[in-house]
Formats: sequence, C-alpha cells, structure tokens
Amino acid sequence: MYTRHVRAPRICILLFVLIGSFSIANAAEITFQDHVKPILRDACFNCHNPDKAKAELDLTTMAGIKSGAGGVEIAAAGRPDTSILYQSMAHLDGAEAMPPKKPKLSADKLKVIRDWIAGGLVESAGGASELRDLAAFDVVALPASGTLAIPTNLPPMEARERPATITTLDASPRAPLLAVSGHERIHLYDTTAKLTELGALPFPEGTIHELRFSRDGGLLLAAGGRGAHSGLVALYDAQTGERKTTVGEETDAVLAADISADNKLVALGGPNKIVKLFDTRTGKQLHKLTKHTDWITAIRFSPDGKMFASGDRNGGIHVWETNDKGGAGIVFTLAEHQERITRLEWRPDGKMVASASDDGNLILWDMKDGWPARTVAAHKEKTTSRYSRQTGVLGLGFAATGRLVTAGRNRQFKVWKADGGREFQSPALAELPTAATISADGKKLYVGCYRGQLQAWDWNGKEASDALVVK
Ligand code: HEC
Repeated sequence: MYTRHVRAPRICILLFVLIGSFSIANAAEITFQDHVKPILRDACFNCHNPDKAKAELDLTTMAGIKSGAGGVEIAAAGRPDTSILYQSMAHLDGAEAMPPKKPKLSADKLKVIRDWIAGGLVESAGGASELRDLAAFDVVALPASGTLAIPTNLPPMEARERPATITTLDASPRAPLLAVSGHERIHLYDTTAKLTELGALPFPEGTIHELRFSRDGGLLLAAGGRGAHSGLVALYDAQTGERKTTVGEETDAVLAADISADNKLVALGGPNKIVKLFDTRTGKQLHKLTKHTDWITAIRFSPDGKMFASGDRNGGIHVWETNDKGGAGIVFTLAEHQERITRLEWRPDGKMVASASDDGNLILWDMKDGWPARTVAAHKEKTTSRYSRQTGVLGLGFAATGRLVTAGRNRQFKVWKADGGREFQSPALAELPTAATISADGKKLYVGCYRGQLQAWDWNGKEASDALVVK
C-alpha cells in the first residue's frame, strides 16, 4: 500500500471548463424556428402538415406540435427520452420509427431535437423555456463536524494482490471519517489531514454494495451479500466500529439500502424487485413494496425521513411516503431514464431528488409535483468501440451546501451547483471512477475506482486540485 500526490494539470482543467460552458450555453439557445423547423421541413413536413396530417399530427408549427398526434402529447419539456417525437426519430422502442421505412436522421440532427426538448421547447430566439424555475436551494445548517469520535484500534487493512473494485463509499456528516468498500470488509480512513488508515470492519457476508452513514453520523450501514444466495444489512457503531445489529435475511444480495433520519427504519432491495421496510430495533419486516418491475438498484430516504425514493435496473423510480405503522404509499413515479438507475440522492433541503443512470443523464426532480426540473447529459459520450462504453453516471453525492458531485464512464468526475449548473469537470482519470462523494462542508471530493484506487481532491469552490491517490 502506498500513497502519492498527483498535481492536476491546470491548463487542461481550464480548457475543459471553457469547452464545457460553451456547449451548455449552446444547448440552451436551440429554438424551434432556427434549428428544429429546418430539420423537420426536410424530413417530416411531407406527411405532417395542416393539409396532410398523418396520425393527425402537424409538425409545421409550434401550435401543431403542442396539440400532438390526435391529442396525444409528443413532446414534454425536459423529458426528451420519453417524448414520442424524439423516440420516433431516434428509432427507440415504443414509438413508430420516423420517417417511415427510411434510415434515421444523423446523430447531429437527433441531438438538436433532443437538446431542444431538454432545454424546454423554446420557440424562437429570446423566447421563454417551458422548464420551470428550479426550486431555490434552502441553505441547510452544516452538521457540527468533528464532534463525534472515530474508531481506533481496528484490525488493519490487508494489502491484496488484486484490489477490489470500490463499489461504494461515504463520508460521515459529523466526524472526519470516510468509509470505503473493500473485499468483504469496510476500509475506514481518518480525513483530518490527508487520509490516514484507521483499519477495517469485517463484512464476511460477501460483496458490499452500499455504505451509508446515518444522518446523525452515529451509525454506519453496510449492505450486500452473495448473488443468488444471501443478503443483509449490517449496522455498525460509527464511533467504535462495533457491529450493532443486522437486518434482513435475503436469499439474494442486497444491492441498495438506507436508514431513515430517526434511525428507526431500514429500507432495502435487490434482484427480487421488492423494496422491504424493517424496524431497526426489532429487526421485524414491516412492509414490502412490489411496484418495481426490475432489480432494485438504489434507495434513499428524504432528509426528514418521511419519504424515500427507490430506483430499478429498468430506469424506473418511485417516491414513497411512509406512515406511522411502517407502511408506505407511492407519491410519484418518475419516468424518464431509459437505463439502470445507478444512484439516487435527495438534495439536503429535501426539495429535489437527483437521479443518476446508465443512460448518462443526471435528472433533478422537483418533489413538489414529481416534475423533472433539470435534465443534464452528465456523462454521455459517443462510444468509439462497442466494448468501451463511455456513457453512464456511476457516482453521485451531495454536500450539505447543496453542491453535487457525479462520476461516470467517460472517466471524469464533475461538480454541479444546487440548481444543476456545472461548475467543474475533471481531467480524465487513470481508472474508471465507480463511486464518488463529497464531504458535508463541500470541501473534499472522494472518488473510488474500478481497480481499487481511491482519490481525495481538495475543492476550493472553483476547481479541484491535489489528488491524493491511495492504492
Ligand atoms: C411518408 C410519410 C411520413 C413521413 C415522411 C413522416 N411521417 Fe410521421 N407518421 C406517418 C404515419 C403514416 C404515421 C402513423 C403511424 C402509425 O400509427 O402507424 C406517423 C406517425 C407519427 C408520429 C406518432 C407516432 C406514434 O408512435 O404515435 C410522430 C411523432 C411522427 N409521425 C413524427 C414524424 C417525424 C418527426 C417525422 C420526420 C422525421 C415524420 N413523422 C415523417 C407518416 C410519415
């Protein structure tokens, strides 16, 4: 085991930032009149005009598009991937391929259509976007940091010839403590200075898929198990490292889990498509929710613990409200992602849920009405070979300040403001980043990688620097 410092190439960062902000500004300016109409005129007006409107659809004006195909909505602001207009042009499942019996339009043209819908269906230059204003971030009181003790005298971490992929990591909201998944154990680091190894907590039950500190920082939740064999959630005392209890006796690995703000409930899920709610004190199962149609891959309680969101391998997300008896009912179903939900996080003020997916998008959902307030192609890049996938968001974390970090298959991590505006894009990392989080005060970024590399970056409000790399 060794550590070394890597200084990020500043020029490189500057270049990325410049290119990045340019493309964002550009996407916002896409309008029906200037960009979309010329594409539709060439390929679609023949059959979709006021005189000859196949499928009762007139694409020649904004009004026509708004009235849809025989009254069925074809374009919804901020939701390109579930809009029939984009689906039909991109030849996605579920919509008739347009234009009929012809190859689909070029990727550049499809991107114009997609960005136009994502940007809020702006009609002409200077016109209004239909995207609603994003709920302003309510500053959340920073947890009193460093007030909790951290475990000492733990068994040491063993060096391994082949390090395990870091599947998950989390920073304590109240102690200088970072938990990182290892091979059947949890690696703990003291984050006071750089990163000091504290030791390992055993998780002999198998692969760890989720690590999560409780809101008060007193407990550390670990979930995992062995595929098609067994799974559970274990709760450790985050100040001593002692294992307090376990919850769930699953017949398959637990892939996603969380603990409620009052530490009374644990929600877990996995390949059996069922979300289960447990009482942490008695270990009793209180409720099971069977609405998902695929493996459960992400679960997060709201900051007040009254609601939680669960996501699945098919891109589906449900938001639930819990009741006093430990039951739960669906509040919203959030449909837009086209592939596996990789992570879900609530913004610390509880007003928004951020979802990350293998489809490369980061979506901020307004919890007033379940509407997608911001859809960003966070880690979405064209793939050069079918074996090197560049699209997919794999890591996601919020600071108490509302700042957000994501990491993805294009080997970068990115920092976002509470409203989804991008602040920073890292240079390409040496290893694929598979998990990422940000400290509660928003000053440290932690990135875990495919071959076990762990990186700590300092965030000064403008850029990330001085990566400390731990193998
Ligand atoms: C050759 C004629 C023709 C052209 C060109 C054409 N369409 Fe269509 N379109 C149709 C017909 C016919 C239907 C009804 C299909 C059906 O329901 O079987 C249709 C249906 C649709 C629908 C509704 C699909 C659904 O699943 O409900 C959309 C949206 C649409 N077209 C968009 C477009 C767009 C965008 C273009 C240009 C890229 C285009 N069309 C070009 C003939 C055409």
